[in-house]
Amino acid sequence: MRRERHSGCRSRLRSRSAVTVSKGRDDAARADAQATGGKPDEEAVVIESFLAELAAFRDAASGVLGGVAEGSGLEQARIEFLGARSGRLKAIQKLLSGLAAGDRPAGGRHFNEAKAAVTALFAAAQERLAAGGATGVDGAADVIDVTLPGEPVRLGHVHPITQTIRRVQEIMARLGFESVDGPEVEDQWHNFEALAIPAEHPARDPLDNFYLAVARGADPLLLRSQTSTVQIRVMENRRPPLRIVSLGRVYRPDTADATHYPMFHQVEGLLIEPGTTMAHLKSVLRQLASSFLGGDVHVRFRPSFFPFTEPSVEFDMEWGGRWIEMGGAGMVDPAVLAAVGYDPDEVSGFAFGLGVERIAARRYGVADIRDFYRNDVRFLRQF
Ligand code: DAH
Repeated sequence: MRRERHSGCRSRLRSRSAVTVSKGRDDAARADAQATGGKPDEEAVVIESFLAELAAFRDAASGVLGGVAEGSGLEQARIEFLGARSGRLKAIQKLLSGLAAGDRPAGGRHFNEAKAAVTALFAAAQERLAAGGATGVDGAADVIDVTLPGEPVRLGHVHPITQTIRRVQEIMARLGFESVDGPEVEDQWHNFEALAIPAEHPARDPLDNFYLAVARGADPLLLRSQTSTVQIRVMENRRPPLRIVSLGRVYRPDTADATHYPMFHQVEGLLIEPGTTMAHLKSVLRQLASSFLGGDVHVRFRPSFFPFTEPSVEFDMEWGGRWIEMGGAGMVDPAVLAAVGYDPDEVSGFAFGLGVERIAARRYGVADIRDFYRNDVRFLRQF
């Protein structure tokens, strides 16, 4: 039977090595050394110390390979333990030939076992590193569970005042008003004189304005106190017809409270077209208010005075059953048209101005405008 023949073959091999043993230790060593090409007088190795050597090799390799954390470390370990030229395994292999011939089969078996075990440890470490895992002392990899919910990235967003500015620009653009900007540092002409605010006017009082320590000639500069300055700058450079809106910062030395802040934002509107009346002004303001606040908003005018409009009004809006003061408006004063080189007999138009914080606070239900500037994310996150 095949099985028997096979086992018979194996026993023949075994008996042959038994014969070799019987020939005596020296003969066997010489014969083996010749067979492997070694010198016959190679130093004798005791099997116990050979096995101890192997065990130390296995221990060291398993310690190092189990803890290796990166590719370069793994390669170093490979060279140290399994390197074909001067690795520790290679050194142990050389000892094999020094074993007594009778010990050699057992020595070889142990050698092969150790080699297989360390090769397997190496392969495992290689696999673990390829999977990107770190390892603890026990060799267990930290696995990344890709099915776990990720950490949400908290996105910032546009500040409510900027949102309000953009929204107003958008609404006014639909009515044909182009958005323009002007400088925040202004001269007397644009902030006051061209707007028919004469030198003795209380609005020019140093206590009511942020005058700058630097002067342009004899002309003091200041942080603009209103966006009406932009009307002048645009009219000086362009011919009618004009429809512009300008939204930006203005500065007044007010003490901060729930409705005041030394810096705030204004919307300035200007329309210069033939045949313009207060009725056009009122319907533009009503459109703006209805679009911004939503729903049906009523606008009312109260007679007032501004140096740069004639007639002048203050306007209120009714929203949610309450009337709120929104800003000032009127027909552009002929003196202003003349100041920018327009002929007051030929052109006319309206202008209006209102506070951005005021309409933002109204729309978002904010009771204290200082909240807009505290930069408290718990507040800002709501918009
Ligand atoms: N500039 C004024 C202020 O700051 C507001 C204003 C009133 C603007 C009437 C205008 C206007 O354009 O016609 O109080």
